[in-house]
Amino acid sequence: MTFRSPHVTVFPDARTAASVVAARLAAALRERPALVLGLPTGRTPVALYAELVKLTAATGLDWSSVTTFNLDEFVGLEGTHPGSYRQFMDAHLFRHVDIPDGRINFLQGTAVDTEQECQRYEHAIMAAGGIDIQIAGIGTNGHIGFNEPGPALQSRTHRAILREETRRGNAALFGGDPAQVPAEALSMGMATILQARAVILLAHGSSKAGCIERAVNGPLTTDLPASFLQLHHDVDIVLDAAAATELKIG
Ligand code: F6R
Repeated sequence: MTFRSPHVTVFPDARTAASVVAARLAAALRERPALVLGLPTGRTPVALYAELVKLTAATGLDWSSVTTFNLDEFVGLEGTHPGSYRQFMDAHLFRHVDIPDGRINFLQGTAVDTEQECQRYEHAIMAAGGIDIQIAGIGTNGHIGFNEPGPALQSRTHRAILREETRRGNAALFGGDPAQVPAEALSMGMATILQARAVILLAHGSSKAGCIERAVNGPLTTDLPASFLQLHHDVDIVLDAAAATELKIG
């Protein structure tokens, strides 16, 4: 028997990858109606959420006992702000499935005491019994959530300073202007993410090819936070062909 995690699967295109992951999540949800999901925002999961919404309409998937925890939120933004990740999630998923509002968990970007807010989130995840499946994307610099590369990582949910490339990557939510993207965010830490029972990381496009290769085959390094996924026993990395072009599968 061979054992390998991260386990990598490559699909011809992002749409096929999204429909396979959506089918896996739907099966998990049918098996365990009280599923606890960790969720990302960004361009990558848009197709996945669209597939889930489609599957829900077609098959009557029941989300009423699901609990969700989003990975991150910008500091200083209310959940009603059009650039907030909460608004993104409402638009792409929450408005289309029947998760009760009280089961949707978000870091509050406007919390006065952000340290306390991060601790509250850790406790809420624990109180929910932990995350069953954490879905994640990856930044071109190897970040997951807003665990940015640097000399050190914080293990638990924390306040993070965003790198310039990350602010540029989020500019579309702020009228295309990176200067309007908040400079800080609250984010689950790598240990919080690694505590999920399973992790599914999605990546599309050639801009992710380099960081995917380093995340899968490179050394563990805080210069590429996603490399720490190698420590987890149940990680699935789901790619389109373009994101797999630098991958050496041995
Ligand atoms: C967002 C998040 C980020 C994104 C990453 C990739 O909630 O956790 O780590 O997953 O920045 O973003 P896209 O998918 O836009 O390339």
